Amino acid sequence: MTSDTGSRGFGIVGTGVIAAMHAVAIGTLPGARLVAVTDVAAGAATAFAAAHGCAAEPGLDALLARGDVDVVCVCVPSGLHAEIGTRAVKAGKHLVVEKPIDVTLPAADRLIGAARAAGVALTVISQHRFDPGLIELKRLLGEGTLGRLVLGEASTKWYRTQAYYDSAGWRGTWAMDGGSLMNQGVHYVDLLRWCMGPVTEVTAVCATQAHQIEVEDTALAIVRFGSGAVGTIASSTAAYPGFPQRLEVTGTDGTVIIEDGRIVRRAFGPGARAAGNGGDGGETGAGAAADPAAIDVASHAAQIADLLAAIDEGREPAVTGQDGRDALEIVCAVYESARTGRTVPLGR
Ligand SMILES: NC(=O)c1ccc[n+]([C@@H]2O[C@H](COP(=O)([O-])OP(=O)(O)OC[C@H]3O[C@@H](n4cnc5c(N)ncnc54)[C@H](O)[C@@H]3O)[C@@H](O)[C@H]2O)c1
Repeated sequence: MTSDTGSRGFGIVGTGVIAAMHAVAIGTLPGARLVAVTDVAAGAATAFAAAHGCAAEPGLDALLARGDVDVVCVCVPSGLHAEIGTRAVKAGKHLVVEKPIDVTLPAADRLIGAARAAGVALTVISQHRFDPGLIELKRLLGEGTLGRLVLGEASTKWYRTQAYYDSAGWRGTWAMDGGSLMNQGVHYVDLLRWCMGPVTEVTAVCATQAHQIEVEDTALAIVRFGSGAVGTIASSTAAYPGFPQRLEVTGTDGTVIIEDGRIVRRAFGPGARAAGNGGDGGETGAGAAADPAAIDVASHAAQIADLLAAIDEGREPAVTGQDGRDALEIVCAVYESARTGRTVPLGR
């Protein structure tokens, strides 16, 4: 229930690494307050609640029964997103689901259908859509500055230790996590699709080379877009010591290169509409390339703020459940292509 001050109450399910980011992001928003958290691990919710000044509930049902929780953030292992999220939307809660939306398309469809049936808002976290460089690139694309799109490349060359994978039983499993592309690379897969449009086919190879895990730690794919443009996707958690995530978009009239959410290079040909030229500088840091917890809170806060505005305005959030499904569909197609050795068509 929205309080008299207009502030919406949030509940967080799963109080691990990313939940802290949600708690801090909620704390920066005037229209939001963290009310309660829950976790299945003994003591985890209590410790988190003490650190963030909210209630700890003994289980999901107790959290969902609270009338002062309007929005639920799903921060549990990826393979549980649809199951937990569906219970929350059936209780009438709006939903923020961490990426990926889930690890299978049927699970994603169940969640999207349940949110629609319940008439609540659903956003899947893709916080980098709110990074300054992406906002600028989308503006340039919207104005047609780059001309007809030719080539799009998304690259995530990160490093994760074996200890990272060993830190929780769900990490590096097909059922709960997926590999480097499903967990780490999916951010820039979403950005690639957002900028380049729908993907029509994928040809890929995957390999597990530097970790004792059942999923891939390196994925490489060639993609075709519906527009006729082509592209590549690369993702690894075996690239020591970890490099900036990179998105390169090339059109007939120019190219924009993004590293970790900032434009580091832009070049326009004579055919480009007036757009300014030159780079935005090129500072790059280690960040999440080497440390899973080292991510900036501002973009999470911007996405949650957009969800609240979407609820108020009765519109779809900027990043919908379908957007999360579209990114997942590409990831699943990469895995299928790597498994079968065949080119995989999308949109079946
Ligand atoms: N957007 C980003 O940049 C970003 C970064 C990191 C993680 N993530 C995503 O966040 C999710 C969680 O990742 P993490 O690194 O925080 O994991 P984590 O293992 O640190 O935390 C997950 C928590 O969920 C709890 N949990 C498990 N099953 C539960 C259940 N049924 N009910 C309640 N709690 C349950 C666990 O006890 C644990 O405390 C993943 O889907 C991951 O992909 C997103």
